[in-house]
Amino acid sequence: MTTTAPRPTKSGSDSGGGRRWPVAAAAAAVAAVGLLARRLRNGGTTAAPPQPPPLKVPRRGSARRPIWSAATARASITARHLRTDAWWLQPLITVVVLVLFIVYSTFRAFQNDFYFAEPYISPFYSPCITTGCQGSTFPELFTGPSWISPAIYILIFPLGFRLTCYYYRKAYYRSFWLSPPACGVREPHGTYSGETRFPLIFQNVHRYFFYFGLVFNVILTYDAVLAFRDETGAWGHMGLGTLVLLANAVLLWLYSLSCHSCRHIFGGRLNHFSRHPLRYRFWVVVSKLNGSHMQYAWISLIGVALTDLYVYLLAADVITDVRFF
Ligand code: FES
Repeated sequence: MTTTAPRPTKSGSDSGGGRRWPVAAAAAAVAAVGLLARRLRNGGTTAAPPQPPPLKVPRRGSARRPIWSAATARASITARHLRTDAWWLQPLITVVVLVLFIVYSTFRAFQNDFYFAEPYISPFYSPCITTGCQGSTFPELFTGPSWISPAIYILIFPLGFRLTCYYYRKAYYRSFWLSPPACGVREPHGTYSGETRFPLIFQNVHRYFFYFGLVFNVILTYDAVLAFRDETGAWGHMGLGTLVLLANAVLLWLYSLSCHSCRHIFGGRLNHFSRHPLRYRFWVVVSKLNGSHMQYAWISLIGVALTDLYVYLLAADVITDVRFF
């Protein structure tokens, strides 16, 4: 005779159900406490707190309204900012340094003199491409009116490269146009259209100015190589001016190679770095340089001005070059 053992039931009061009731009681207690807390917060009612109206953001290009407007998209606080640090210092320094550079470089570009002291030529005047040039470091391509400085013909390229630089854009948007002057500080403008419209949309030409900048770097490096000649044209000379021109060329290369456009040339529009190992290696190097682009921008800018100043003082016989050999 066989006997069948009784099968345990799911609802047995001595197994699962017996162990679950403390859990259920705890959950109910937590819910009750939460309900009570919400009631106290809402002044005795359990209704959900009132929500702010949904943010209205105008659709792009839907009308003549700005893409982003202070009235619809910004927090409405009366204070212009809540910062307590010297946030104004950086924009102020930027303004002072850039204004000094603009004044000095404009004066030198229009001066049309004292830009060549054998064998050195000022970077503001190189390449010197007219028949009226002092010295002969570059083919003289045409005869311009003598009252037009040779620097004027080439000015647009280094100027355009710097003006459209992503870093300088940030710097002068913040410091000159206060747009915004610093992080967390409200700008005085009511609307913001970014760089999507005239005239700032032309900032996109930076990628083309980058190539012109490379050409100028090659020419200024060539000038530095020519500085290893003495006044008679014999090779094997080195003076302080040689080092100054050399340092200027190196700084300009660092500035150009750390450019965001340069980084994009090597690493942009790629889906798989693994299929482009050479570009990947260049991209890694350029990315490292790119992290210091701001520093290279300032150092190279000051370097260009000091190089010109050195040649100016030599050409004007204010100082004499230090000869090493
Ligand atoms: S981003 Fe500064 S030079 Fe290109």
